[in-house]
Amino acid sequence: MDKMWAGRFTEKLNELADDFNSSFHFDCRMFRQDIRGSIAHAHMLAAKGIISQEDTSLIVDGLCAILEDIESGKLTFQSDAEDIHMFIESELTRRIGDAGKRLHTARSRNDQVALDIRMYLRDENTEILGLIRKLIATVCDKAKENTDAILPGYTHLQRAQPITFAHHLLAYAMMFKRDYERITDAVKRMNSSPIGSCALAGTTYDTDRFMEAEELAFDSVMLNSIDGVSDRDFCLELLSAYSILMMHLSRFSEEVVLWSSWEFKFIELSDSFSTGSSIMPQKKNPDMAELVRGKCGRVYGDLMALLTTLKGLPLAYNKDMQEDKESIFDAVDTVKLCLGVFEPMIATMTTLKANMLSAAQKGFINATDLADYLVKKGMPFRTAYKLVGETVAYCIANKTVLEEFPFEKYKELSPLFEEDVYDEISLVTCVNKRVSVGSTGPASVKMQIEYITEFLND
Ligand code: ARG
Repeated sequence: MDKMWAGRFTEKLNELADDFNSSFHFDCRMFRQDIRGSIAHAHMLAAKGIISQEDTSLIVDGLCAILEDIESGKLTFQSDAEDIHMFIESELTRRIGDAGKRLHTARSRNDQVALDIRMYLRDENTEILGLIRKLIATVCDKAKENTDAILPGYTHLQRAQPITFAHHLLAYAMMFKRDYERITDAVKRMNSSPIGSCALAGTTYDTDRFMEAEELAFDSVMLNSIDGVSDRDFCLELLSAYSILMMHLSRFSEEVVLWSSWEFKFIELSDSFSTGSSIMPQKKNPDMAELVRGKCGRVYGDLMALLTTLKGLPLAYNKDMQEDKESIFDAVDTVKLCLGVFEPMIATMTTLKANMLSAAQKGFINATDLADYLVKKGMPFRTAYKLVGETVAYCIANKTVLEEFPFEKYKELSPLFEEDVYDEISLVTCVNKRVSVGSTGPASVKMQIEYITEFLND
């Protein structure tokens, strides 16, 4: 088929160059948005008297029929079209003749593609936000089931202080809530219409960009036509937000991998979200968590790829920008895939509370509380800190723990020690006495659950 722009040329485009140039195999996924945008454009052209009502009806009916035929599989993407925009327009013209050729009045593929990606991402992000909400709800439900599960909190992957599993899970709920808000912000900023920017300089036709933007549910129109067709910062913002979300998912995944190992055994993943080994019959592997952790790298790569592509591009449109789509599409697909599998994996995992507690009983994670005990009896913190350090060293050398350290020995170390010391350093006390806002104590955990629940009910 002759190119739409063939008029200026005497020679045909080389076949390799044609394939190289075509984005159709990946931008065809924007067919719904392209058609919707074209319908709004035809409505506006008619309202402003730029094309006739008759032609408009033919165009709109024709576009609706094309949409239906693509949805039903009657019209396939088997075509050597340059991109989705050319494909739809030439199919329309094939069906309705000259009226189809009037659709592209007062627009360019430059503003058309800038419009389509925005609409596509708006739709996809509605789905992504729904998936994040669902994940937050699941994490919060798990937290509610685990307010009494005590485990060691870690720093440097060394046992540090006792916390509840609920508190640990709620940390992720807070992170995912911010991911949700970051994406929502990016979508809000993206929701300004570029259509009507035309090739780069606007148009001599008396168009109504506001009408078109309103029909397509944009909040505003972009006020500089060069900006409208040149920037892909909205893709970068989303890719950054996705990268951070994937980083959170990857850290959570890493913990799922650790927790389900024999060394920790804090959780057991459901059989339906685990895999076996082809050779080692005893194995139950956390492949889903590992893949989510691994796929984080793809999304970082997508961000880097597009940042690098855009760097140094002169204004306005350059063909380099066609590369935006594969990056952003891959990231969207990956994020959806990961959220889709991660949420049910968490929902179906079992918490092994007894193992968590037994890990918490080793490792001197109540040492800070022992120091605080002495401080409350009047000893300066640094003195108490040193004394407890020495006690821990003694316990390690003598294979005992602070809870079982004999009372006479405590008394020898400091006359401030009384019988209540054992109560004060029990793990349950350590957790329950954490009263600061945001701490692992029960009142704080309750407040966090309420905060997340309120967000979910909003
Ligand atoms: N397929 C192109 C892209 O994705 C559409 C815009 C083409 N514009 C142009 N002036 N060649 O960037």
